Amino acid sequence: MGFVEGLYHEVAQALRKLEEIPILESGVLPKIGVVELLKMALKNEMEASQLAALWMPSTPEIDIKLGLARQCGDEAKHYRLIEKRLIELGENLEGFSPLAMGYSPLYQWLVTLDNSIERVAAGPFAREAIAIKRNLQLIAVLEAMEDKESADLYRNQIQPDEDWHHNFGLTMLRKYATTVELQEKATLATMKTIELADELRTAAMAKSGACVIPGC
Ligand SMILES: [Fe+2]
Ligand SMILES: [Fe+2]
Repeated sequence: MGFVEGLYHEVAQALRKLEEIPILESGVLPKIGVVELLKMALKNEMEASQLAALWMPSTPEIDIKLGLARQCGDEAKHYRLIEKRLIELGENLEGFSPLAMGYSPLYQWLVTLDNSIERVAAGPFAREAIAIKRNLQLIAVLEAMEDKESADLYRNQIQPDEDWHHNFGLTMLRKYATTVELQEKATLATMKTIELADELRTAAMAKSGACVIPGC
């Protein structure tokens, strides 16, 4: 098994615990509503877009730079799509800022990364792997809540981009993480991202009663 395949496998293992959604098994709908879930999503999309923008100018590899540029635009597009859905649901977003409560601990750590390999490992590769998994669960919950429009938005418009972001990270790791030292950096950055994302999930669930949280 090559380095990237090994790391991919490790991520899949680490994310396995996300598979347990007690709510769907027990048939009880979440305490939190669609509106709250989608507002949480806005914060994640904003942080993902801003992070890619922040990294782009200081990342020397042209293909990584351009991939980050695409991701920045995609996450901004997701923000607008989710915002539009919230308005359709009757939510007034005038004066709303997803950053009113500040940045997440994960974002605050991600911005400190200054090596391209660590960045693609933590951002596109790991954070997007988490996003894909969380969004799959979110789609299942949205369907259980009978909000087909929001589920379709995630399935048809958002998830294909998140898949692209993750595969971009994977391809860049395959291309650039070619030394033991870089591979170690990539592994540490990946695992730290999963750990911080998991802490956030636990905290968000405890605070809001959400059984799932959206990705980005
Ligand atoms: Fe994404
Ligand atoms: Fe996104």
